[in-house]
Amino acid sequence: MKQTILVTGASSGIGLLIANRLHKDGHSVIGTSRNPKKYQSELPFKLLSLDISDDHSIESFGKQLFNEIDQLDVLVNNAGYLVTGLAEETSVALGKQQLETNFWGTVKLTNELLPYFRKQRRGKIITVGSILGLIGLPNVAYYSASKHALEGYFKALRFELNQFNIKVCMVEPMGFKTNIGENASRATGNINEYDLYRQKISTFMKKEFDNAPGPEPVVNQVIKIVHEKVPKFSYPIGKGASIFLALHRYAYNTFEAAILKRVNQA
Ligand SMILES: NC(=O)c1ccc[n+]([C@@H]2O[C@H](COP(=O)([O-])OP(=O)(O)OC[C@H]3O[C@@H](n4cnc5c(N)ncnc54)[C@H](OP(=O)(O)O)[C@@H]3O)[C@@H](O)[C@H]2O)c1
Repeated sequence: MKQTILVTGASSGIGLLIANRLHKDGHSVIGTSRNPKKYQSELPFKLLSLDISDDHSIESFGKQLFNEIDQLDVLVNNAGYLVTGLAEETSVALGKQQLETNFWGTVKLTNELLPYFRKQRRGKIITVGSILGLIGLPNVAYYSASKHALEGYFKALRFELNQFNIKVCMVEPMGFKTNIGENASRATGNINEYDLYRQKISTFMKKEFDNAPGPEPVVNQVIKIVHEKVPKFSYPIGKGASIFLALHRYAYNTFEAAILKRVNQA
């Protein structure tokens, strides 16, 4: 069945691939970008302006969206970015910006659209979280916090929306090659005692980014969920994700020792 699907952050990376694929499959797709004019001419689906860190943008987007479409079947909350840096060296201001976009922006946009979903008495909300919303790693404390917050929020929302036949789920990707690294905001190191560790972490992260696979598995997973009648809540995705999570849950010391070793060897 052809559906009307909104994909936030559809100008790049995972969101772009999801939106293109859904369009190719014959769905009616609306994407978003903070700068739609820059990308629209190259895209086969309509791109609307949306900055999820800006309340006015979310409000005017909500109005514009329903001028374009009569119904909404699926919301894919994909827009987001990465703040990197050692926790103590990352300013609270930068940390707040991370939460403002990844957590609050996603929540506010969802709230803007919920009245329509409730009125329809059906809908699906798929949020792109991260494996870092299920585990923590060094150098991404605020990103990890923002994605953990999404997990808790949407877990609760899933219960509340069950009565309206609105399905809520999360996709939690491992590392995949997109523009997330280039688009990241980086804290500048200023505490000498961290100099060596900072260097090791940056080598470790570079290796992880360089060796990351393309994001097609995430796209395939989202497409599957779009067609699922009764989706689960959580979909970790990526090579080794289940082993990683099992170690984290049942053998935390082993998990921790393995990460410490890999960072130290970098
Ligand atoms: N790549 C990975 O390894 C990975 C792993 C786990 C989770 N994720 C998650 O996957 C999602 C997509 O990331 P990606 O890897 O595809 O990165 P990307 O290539 O940098 O794409 C990010 C997208 O989000 C949009 N965006 C960023 N800030 C925004 C804001 N304030 N308001 C509205 N849109 C905004 C960007 O659109 P404009 O710049 O055009 O506005 C862009 O389309 C993110 O939520 C990310 O946390 C990625």
